[in-house]
Amino acid sequence: MLRIALPKGRLGEKAYHVLAEAGYPCPELLEDNRKLIFENTDAGIQYFLVKPSDVSVYVEHGAADAGIVGKDILLEYEPDIYELFDLRMGKCRMCVAGPGRFRDRHTRALRVATKFPHIAGRYFDAQSREIEIIHLNGSIELAPLVGLSDVIVDIVETGTTLRENGLSVLEEIVPISARFIANKASFKFKGAEIRRILDGLKACLPE
Ligand code: PRP
Repeated sequence: MLRIALPKGRLGEKAYHVLAEAGYPCPELLEDNRKLIFENTDAGIQYFLVKPSDVSVYVEHGAADAGIVGKDILLEYEPDIYELFDLRMGKCRMCVAGPGRFRDRHTRALRVATKFPHIAGRYFDAQSREIEIIHLNGSIELAPLVGLSDVIVDIVETGTTLRENGLSVLEEIVPISARFIANKASFKFKGAEIRRILDGLKACLPE
């Protein structure tokens, strides 16, 4: 049985549909219930539904053999896993955003609110810009509106959240999309099964 960690929510559902098309269906997963483990013994597959930011934890520790995860999570946590395939879905951008009128005058440390302290730290480090990280867990866009930070580093997908809060993209850091990842030991010992899924994904998502 191959164990796959899927992120709960929109991306997980999209990824599941591709996996189902690739020959690994488990329709119970789409039902309105609170279960966390789903399996299809005929297809030899078991799905775990986890918080998006936890997918790589399950895969790195070998509790799951493979998983679908956003590149943002891989860049933030740098887990020791194999990144096998870009599914080219869940596309968005990691950006610095702030009030449209914001100008960095470099007179003091820039206050940056974010769920991605590592990505933000590395980005501003590379510019030798001193920052103070304000680590939040959600609704990041609120921070500059109430004076908690100067700017934010966050995911921008449609841009609606920024727009509706009077904020704009100031700099683009990196494009993001969903990746198929595997545990290193699993890739060695269950390589054939993992490659079969990989080929199925590639066939369903041609270049
Ligand atoms: C993410 C992200 C932005 C928003 C961007 O938040 O942190 O707030 O989506 O999407 P958009 O450009 O299409 O508006 P999420 O929905 O994960 O909620 P959160 O605020 O709890 O992090």
